[in-house]
Amino acid sequence: LAPKPLRGRNVLVTAGPTFEPIDPVRGITNHSSGKMGFAIARAAAEAGAIVTLVAGPVHLSTPRHVRRIDVQTAREMHDAVLRQAPGQHAFIATAAVADWRPVEVHEHKLKKAEGGATAPTIAMTENPDILAEVARLPSPPYCVGFAAESEKLAEHADAKRRRKGIPLIVANLGPATFGRDDNALLLIDEQGQRELPEGGGTADKLSLARALIAELSRRLG
Ligand code: C5P
Repeated sequence: LAPKPLRGRNVLVTAGPTFEPIDPVRGITNHSSGKMGFAIARAAAEAGAIVTLVAGPVHLSTPRHVRRIDVQTAREMHDAVLRQAPGQHAFIATAAVADWRPVEVHEHKLKKAEGGATAPTIAMTENPDILAEVARLPSPPYCVGFAAESEKLAEHADAKRRRKGIPLIVANLGPATFGRDDNALLLIDEQGQRELPEGGGTADKLSLARALIAELSRRLG
């Protein structure tokens, strides 16, 4: 029988992008397939956890024994996560949340002006930082963040970890991982760094997710 190190533990995961509407037919989104987050939700369920997955718009089927809540916008993701947060033992934030949203959502489709008049300007406002907010709760779950950096990976990821007040951040080592099935991860905490897969190279996202969940299980004790 497979070991169930997370039996009796509640694990909350965010995955995928968010979609911020401009009008009924347009919006702003991030590039994210959701594959890593769905693999993590699956690995946590395999390890015996009670898993809640808050997913932005993705084309993926729900892993077995995972409770899924679908959302579109960052604010919907924020509200769903904060509602689910009480009683969670771990929170793994893999979602590529849009940093900004249009101030105004137009009720009707924006039309091109006659005679090629100027293009519209879209005023933007900041979205809530879901992970930082969960980390600030009075008794927060063990929070794991993800970081996609284009340079000075470890340095920037660790700075992000401290800024958000979380114990563990996972940086994507693979250059262009969007939509791919394999990746490499760098785990960074107060003690230092650890690469997955061990010994370099890349691994498929499910293997990486299982290794990350094994690491999380050790930390939850
Ligand atoms: O600040 P940045 O977006 O680079 O941080 C990435 C980490 O923070 C990821 O774990 C992501 O899921 C989380 N995040 C969030 N809410 C936001 C922005 C990022 O939970 N508004």
